[in-house]
Order: sequence, then C-alpha cells, then structure tokens
Amino acid sequence: MKTNLADIRKDYSSRTLDTKDVHASPIEQFNLWLKQALDSGALEATAMNLATVSKEGKPASRIVLLKGIEHACFVFYTNYQSHKGDDITQNSSGALNFFWPELERQVRIEGTIAKVSTVDSDTYFESRPYASKIGAWVSEQSKEIASREELEKRIEYYEKKYPEGTTVPRPAYWGGYALKPNYFEFWQGRPSRLHDRIVYDLEENIRWNIYRICP
Ligand SMILES: Cc1cc2nc3c(=O)[nH]c(=O)nc-3n(C[C@H](O)[C@H](O)[C@H](O)COP(=O)(O)O)c2cc1C
Repeated sequence: MKTNLADIRKDYSSRTLDTKDVHASPIEQFNLWLKQALDSGALEATAMNLATVSKEGKPASRIVLLKGIEHACFVFYTNYQSHKGDDITQNSSGALNFFWPELERQVRIEGTIAKVSTVDSDTYFESRPYASKIGAWVSEQSKEIASREELEKRIEYYEKKYPEGTTVPRPAYWGGYALKPNYFEFWQGRPSRLHDRIVYDLEENIRWNIYRICP
C-alpha cells in the first residue's frame, strides 16, 4: 500500500509558550527545556543538528551531541579535519537545531563557532571509553575509505599501538568546538499550525531582546 505523505498530519496541543513565561536568559530557558526533554525520556535529547557553510557558500548539516554548555557556549566534539571542521575553519558561522517531538518543541540557535581549549579537549577525551578513544585515531572522518576491512585493520593497528589500560593520547586533529549564540528561537507546537515562537536576539553583544514571531 502506498503511503500518501501529504495525508500525514499531527496537531500539537500539549503546551503553550509566551514571552511572559520565558526566562530573561536564553541559556536558562534552554537548560529548563533540555532538562524537561531529558526527564521526558526523549531518545537522544542532547542530539542537535549542526549546520555549517563552506567557503563557497554551500550549506551542510549533520547530527552531533551536545557535551556541555560552557561560558554560555554550546560544546561538541569531533574531528577537526572532517567536512564540518573544514567548513568551520573557512566560515565560523553555524546553527544548531534541537527537536524534541515528545514535548512538541524545537530550539534553533545561531552563532559563531571556535575551538575549545586544548585542556578542555584533553579532559573530555580522557573521559571517553577506550573504544571511542581508539575510534578517534582510526577514523579519518569524512574521507573515503576502500572497505570496512580497511577500517578494521586500522582498529587492530591502534589497539596494538595503544593497548587497553595504557594512556591513549588525544589526536591533535580531534577536539571540541563551542558555538557562541547570538540568536535563539524557542518553538512550541500549537493547534492548527499556529505555533508559539519566542525569539532572543542579541543586541550589541550585551542585551537579549525577547519577542514573539509569527508561526
Ligand atoms: C545521534 C548521532 C550523534 C552523533 N554525534 C556525533 C558527534 O558528537 N560528533 C561527531 O563528529 N559526529 C557525530 N555524529 C556523526 C555525524 O552526524 C557525522 O556523520 C560526522 O560528524 C561527519 O560529518 P561531516 O562529514 O559533516 O564532518 C553523530 C551522528 C548521530 C546520528
């Protein structure tokens, strides 16, 4: 039976959002929604879509995991030589998107991306399980590889080089990025597509203007 995608419709009605309900700080508001998403049992509540733009203006997006909010910046870890790493080197603008269907919510965040300190990357790398540390050495992320077997050979090589129980150093090409926001939008689904959208817009790097925008 052929599914008619145009007939798929979900009405959102569980919650509301108004400028008078939100916190003065977008980070506090985000933390509240993230906690509610985690408490709701949402699968991968910390997963966020990260959009970057190449030097030529070509956009790309992919999911990465939020690993912390430090100094009001959103931190994730990756390979600096990946496709996203190349984009960020050429163009520091980025955008994040969290979608928590269990709560009928979306959060959009825009800002600029910079590397975290090597100390922070070392600390996070050290906290990872052994297999993930080896994985960081094994994967030339986003580069073509001939076969799965090739990848497995590389795993064997690095497991011999850095046996379990010994120190696995952090590869210099692997570490954290932090997105410093200048724009947030908190989206709460409402009936008949008349959703609530509350924006925080950073004015002159000091003041968050809070206002409602049309659905
Ligand atoms: C749920 C989920 C979580 C992911 N978390 C990360 C992550 O934290 N860091 C990362 O580099 N890739 C993560 N990935 C893989 C990325 O989506 C992507 O495939 C990879 O980073 C390469 O992207 P790029 O070629 O655009 O650089 C995750 C994928 C999924 C589906």
